[in-house]
Amino acid sequence: MLSVLGADQPGNYIIGEQALRRFLNTQQQAAHFLNDDEIAAAYPTYALQALNFGIADSSAAGEFPKFTARRARDVPTHVIVKFSGEDDTPQEHRWADLLICEHLALTTINDTLKLKAANSRIYQFAGRTFYEVDRFDRHGEFGRSGVCSWHELNAALFGGTGNRSDGADALLHANYISEETAQQIKLLEQFGRMIGNTDMHDGNLAFLPDMCLAPAYDMLPMMYAPQRGVELVERKLNPALPLPKEREIWLLAASAARVFWRRLEVDERISLDFRRIAGVNAGWIDRFVA
Ligand SMILES: Nc1ncnc2c1ncn2[C@@H]1O[C@H](COP(=O)(O)OP(=O)(O)OP(=O)(O)O)[C@@H](O)[C@H]1O
Ligand SMILES: [Mg+2]
Repeated sequence: MLSVLGADQPGNYIIGEQALRRFLNTQQQAAHFLNDDEIAAAYPTYALQALNFGIADSSAAGEFPKFTARRARDVPTHVIVKFSGEDDTPQEHRWADLLICEHLALTTINDTLKLKAANSRIYQFAGRTFYEVDRFDRHGEFGRSGVCSWHELNAALFGGTGNRSDGADALLHANYISEETAQQIKLLEQFGRMIGNTDMHDGNLAFLPDMCLAPAYDMLPMMYAPQRGVELVERKLNPALPLPKEREIWLLAASAARVFWRRLEVDERISLDFRRIAGVNAGWIDRFVA
């Protein structure tokens, strides 16, 4: 499948001549980069194509429905776009809330946690919420760079079954990453726990070719996702308190998570129901930090 269709996978590999031919054809067509005023018409159509025919012109794996697109921003930019359903139900509102959470989580990772995160934004058209994130493995119109997820590295090097902090220690001890990168992985993991991200699997953490951490992606409070896609179950955020060796990072993560939950609480794009949950969670963090 990769050798036939894999012309736009994460990273920079293209495997096989058929896939390469596909890639070259796309480059030759000088594909159009969408302006801000074109996406209100284009994105709802792309969403329908992605739902009806698998993915048109796309690559990214994963669980959310999504497509890739080209955008004329300050420079030509390749983006991934995830979107919610258009039904006016509490469940669909929750999925839309979660996309806004993903945008706010990445924003908070950048400006408060001071780690790199991909730039993202939210649009709402045609009853759907669209989450658009800039690809860090694409640069301008043609540039492509490598990326390797912890999932692949772990399988190749260790076969570990622990959490990300265990992985960071294994990579550090084998001299693959610096102490600083190991600390960043741990900080991001603690932050993820405090924002209710129950989906921190090995594929949601990646490294650049120099073995620095790739910008953060796919960070959102998945514990609040509708169960089996549809059922809204009441959930209580309850991340573990820190051991002494974890205390410093835990406190940094907690103060950033508090900023995250307070941002949700006042964001009018988010449903009232979920803003109330965000307020409770911010209060929980206040209490333990105090
Ligand atoms: N900003 C980005 N730049 C480059 N690649 C990205 C970016 N965001 C995501 N990806 C790639 O696309 C894949 C799917 O994206 P993401 O993990 O956000 O979607 P998902 O549907 O939530 O995935 P899953 O539920 O399977 O974890 C990622 O595993 C990663 O390889
Ligand atoms: Mg993912």
